[in-house]
Amino acid sequence: MKIAVVGATGEVGRMMTRVLQERNVRPDEISFFASARSAGEGVEFYGRKHRVKELTEEAMRERYDYLLFSAGAAVSRQYAPIAAEAGSVVIDNSSAFRMDPAIPLVVPEINGDLLKGYSSGIVANPNCSTIQMVLALYRVHERYGIRSIVVSTYQSVSGAGKNGMNELEDQMRGHIAPKKFVKQIHLNVVPQIGSLLENGFTDEEMKMVNETRKILRDPDISVWPTTVRVPVLYCHSESIFTETRKPFDLPGIEAALEAGEHVVFSRDMFTPLDAAGTDLTYVGRVRAFDDTRFLMWNVADNIRVGAATNAVRILLKHRELN
Ligand SMILES: NC(=O)c1ccc[n+]([C@@H]2O[C@H](COP(=O)([O-])OP(=O)(O)OC[C@H]3O[C@@H](n4cnc5c(N)ncnc54)[C@H](OP(=O)(O)O)[C@@H]3O)[C@@H](O)[C@H]2O)c1
Repeated sequence: MKIAVVGATGEVGRMMTRVLQERNVRPDEISFFASARSAGEGVEFYGRKHRVKELTEEAMRERYDYLLFSAGAAVSRQYAPIAAEAGSVVIDNSSAFRMDPAIPLVVPEINGDLLKGYSSGIVANPNCSTIQMVLALYRVHERYGIRSIVVSTYQSVSGAGKNGMNELEDQMRGHIAPKKFVKQIHLNVVPQIGSLLENGFTDEEMKMVNETRKILRDPDISVWPTTVRVPVLYCHSESIFTETRKPFDLPGIEAALEAGEHVVFSRDMFTPLDAAGTDLTYVGRVRAFDDTRFLMWNVADNIRVGAATNAVRILLKHRELN
């Protein structure tokens, strides 16, 4: 098997390299690409040092069994189609192709079946906040039908990559000018992630609206998100209000949450520090006043569950099905 990681020096790229080893994926050949800025840096894989290469169109014309992309949407738009054309399977963490109707948007536990027979081309990895929300809710949707979701996120700075983490750390040391975030993030909470659109929502919020419908294969689910950046290093948290089509009782909802693959339902309370470094989505504080609406809290590691682990799970599922 021949694999390459594109964006190998970034938060997600480094974690994908780590998760491949944790899952004992042993390719015969592996390459690591980034921009010219980091070309020549070293990446360790199963104890061997590999040199990071500069990403070029020529390198993407070679066929790989799997190319794991996490270098931003502009890089994906330029290079992923070339790789797909060369017969590679591209697993893309960026937002570039997620809403393209011809491209599967995959959370393997929910719609991994879409990978069967998909011999080459781009597979999109969803947005991090969307992944942990749909993982928590997909069994509820199967059993009770979700009519609407109102979600407020509490997203960590690592969601904005290594520059986002550096910005919080710099501000903690006293350099306070915001660059990556729209306002100071240290000692603050910023209710805007991404750019503001004409409808008043941000592009991050619209990803949650559109991607949820695509992954759960239901264009009628109405999603009302507010995405918020908080000064936490790893893990996104979400307060989620869900309205169902069919009536439920609370034990039924708890059983549906518990039935989710890689989901932990608990009456304990989970925080980002509890979830960091794990591959699980934690759900708790489930409560309701009536039988069609409930509230819950959910936490997951955005770099793992929301990006790297989902990408490696796509790779493994693709191998299993093809
Ligand atoms: N962080 C998250 O929670 C998360 C979750 C889901 C999806 N994603 C997506 O994953 C992607 C990467 O995010 P990240 O958080 O890992 O960002 P990051 O830490 O900023 O890393 C970006 C990576 O892309 C590389 N890169 C940038 N421009 C490039 C170019 N022109 N050619 C080749 N490589 C280039 C960088 O290489 P250099 O070292 O050379 O700059 C670095 O390896 C983004 O599309 C992001 O939206 C992130």
